[in-house]
Amino acid sequence: MENRDQLIMTAKAMVADNKGLVAIDESIATLNKRFEAAGIPQTEGYRRAYREVLITTPGIGEYINGAILFDETVHQQTLSGIPFLDALNKAGVIPGIKLDEGVEDLPLSPGEKVTKGLDDLVERLAAYSKLGLRFAKWRAVIQIDGQLPTAACIASNAHALARYAAACQQAGIVPVVEPEVIMDGAHRIERCAEVTEWALRELFQQLHLLNVELRGLILKPNMVLPGKDVKEKASADEVATLTVECLLNAVPAAVAGIAFLSGGQDPESASANLNAMNLKYKTELPWPVTYSFSRALHQPALEIWAGKDENVKAAQASFLELGKANKAAGKGEFIS
Ligand code: 13P
Repeated sequence: MENRDQLIMTAKAMVADNKGLVAIDESIATLNKRFEAAGIPQTEGYRRAYREVLITTPGIGEYINGAILFDETVHQQTLSGIPFLDALNKAGVIPGIKLDEGVEDLPLSPGEKVTKGLDDLVERLAAYSKLGLRFAKWRAVIQIDGQLPTAACIASNAHALARYAAACQQAGIVPVVEPEVIMDGAHRIERCAEVTEWALRELFQQLHLLNVELRGLILKPNMVLPGKDVKEKASADEVATLTVECLLNAVPAAVAGIAFLSGGQDPESASANLNAMNLKYKTELPWPVTYSFSRALHQPALEIWAGKDENVKAAQASFLELGKANKAAGKGEFIS
């Protein structure tokens, strides 16, 4: 592979120094939903303004190695006319792009989803690469419910993730592969562990089959958690132990890094769980274990901002504070 060294260097830089990624790649529909809940008008102007709040936070490069963007944001700029991509590069933050196009029903598998976006991937990758995007994300959704997930869902999503990862690497772009076992439901934590390990094993089999270079790839998994309808929360120790066991069993040591999604956990829990993994197991882990959070890094900032200029500084302070907390969690030094 002609881009191998470059891919490996970029992937390493994305998880270096106990820092991680921020996902600011909510689709227009998802961001509008969050705006609606926070009483913010759902317009292109407000979406741009919110992205500016985050991207121009002074000092983000201290805590964030890379930012995952949505297509709309890639083409936007600050109010003073600096393209967002330039602002990120100047802050020392590598820009990346969400490449999946959401999910659709998986045929013959009622209640299950498969991710869309493979058809024109090669063309889109070439265009984003030209614009200077250096990594990309693709999210698969796996739901636990009674007999679900089916083997059909696990296999279809693993294959799509591997097809996407191979296409990314061919274009010189580092793939972030995200097989998300979602928290919805009332299942026990052990069931989440079982399904997460199954999905990861299948994923790495497909990545191998499609010749993906693991040293130039970042895995973005869910933490192993009980379903969100279960009343009793798992302790950070239990989450850390089961998550690490699952990853050690299923993820090859060659992978450049692991950057978790937060999946709807509150910021405090997401940081505490990440911290417990690094505090207890860092020396046993073959990869850096860090964050690629959206909600657990900037949902509080969105609520503080609330669409008002006078709140920008306070919103940025909240974003920076959560960045700092999670960098500390990357070292096992987070104090709740
Ligand atoms: P959350 O951290 O809010 O789960 O979002 C991460 C993400 O990028 C989902 O694709």
